[in-house]
Amino acid sequence: MKNIAVIGSGTMGNGIAHVFAQHGFSVALIDISEDALKKALTTIEKNLDRQVAKQTLTEEGKKQTLQNIKTFTQLKDGVANADLVVEAATENVELKLNIFKEMDSYAKPDAILSTNTSSISITKIASVTKRPDKVIGMHFMNPVPVMKLVEVIRGYNTTDEVTNTIMDMSKKLQKVPVEVNDYPGFVANRILMPMINEAIYSLYEGVAGVEEIDTVMKLGMAHPMGPLQLADFIGLDVCLSILRVLHDGFGNPKYAPCPLLVNMVQAGHKGVKSGSGFYQYT
Ligand code: CAA
Repeated sequence: MKNIAVIGSGTMGNGIAHVFAQHGFSVALIDISEDALKKALTTIEKNLDRQVAKQTLTEEGKKQTLQNIKTFTQLKDGVANADLVVEAATENVELKLNIFKEMDSYAKPDAILSTNTSSISITKIASVTKRPDKVIGMHFMNPVPVMKLVEVIRGYNTTDEVTNTIMDMSKKLQKVPVEVNDYPGFVANRILMPMINEAIYSLYEGVAGVEEIDTVMKLGMAHPMGPLQLADFIGLDVCLSILRVLHDGFGNPKYAPCPLLVNMVQAGHKGVKSGSGFYQYT
């Protein structure tokens, strides 16, 4: 496997492209917007500069990484040569189903189609393609160049061969892959989101303030960020949509999103990306 296509150049997509390119793969980074692609390349360069400054990457390594990335605005052109596609578009079921339907017809018949979805069913996504055995979840964590985990999610029809290929591929990126099965929230978000939701409930019920809740979890549990800061970092709209997947998928009231989270998202307070969430960013 040499040629990788990454669909979506937002926070996750540019991080995924960065990591593949840094490890010598040819990357086709695809987005419908030329501006988004330009922004993504600027972000990748800035993050490579951090690595150069820390001497974990040479100037030559940075140059080579950037040369390994080509950008495309047409899905058809971007996926044509790919051995592996990693879809990292917006977390929206209809959008992802359309992308998979379309790319299934353009990608090589033996290409593996993976998705970075944080909670949408891999089996459902695979069902719109003619190759459900070659569809798999490759769930990277933000910030992708820093976080070691890849949650590798097997759909109902994913073969052992495809799973093993993706486990090996993740190791080539110097990540630690963990294989899990396809149930709502997989493992990462099934455990993370109830914690974040409980932190929001603690605030909503007046048990403690934002900074107090985060300090308890940072200093008491050695988490690098408190749950409310982490929710802002992930995006409150993303947290809400994952909680809804858990709530719908298991039908268990314990996953019901806190009304405060619902209100904040409706009011446009989505965390870092909107300039305000539990904290202010502007
Ligand atoms: N690219 C490259 N390097 C980066 C980077 C990026 N985008 N962002 C940060 N770094 C590097 C920095 O250069 C620094 O490196 P050194 O320690 O070697 O000097 C290191 O990462 C730490 O960065 P900072 O000093 O700027 O900041 P920090 O110490 O506060 O750490 C953090 C930042 C790594 C984000 C840390 O706060 C953290 O680990 N937070 C939790 C992240 C987390 O839980 N992510 C998972 C979210 S859930 C998800 O992604 C999936 C989902 O489905 C919702």
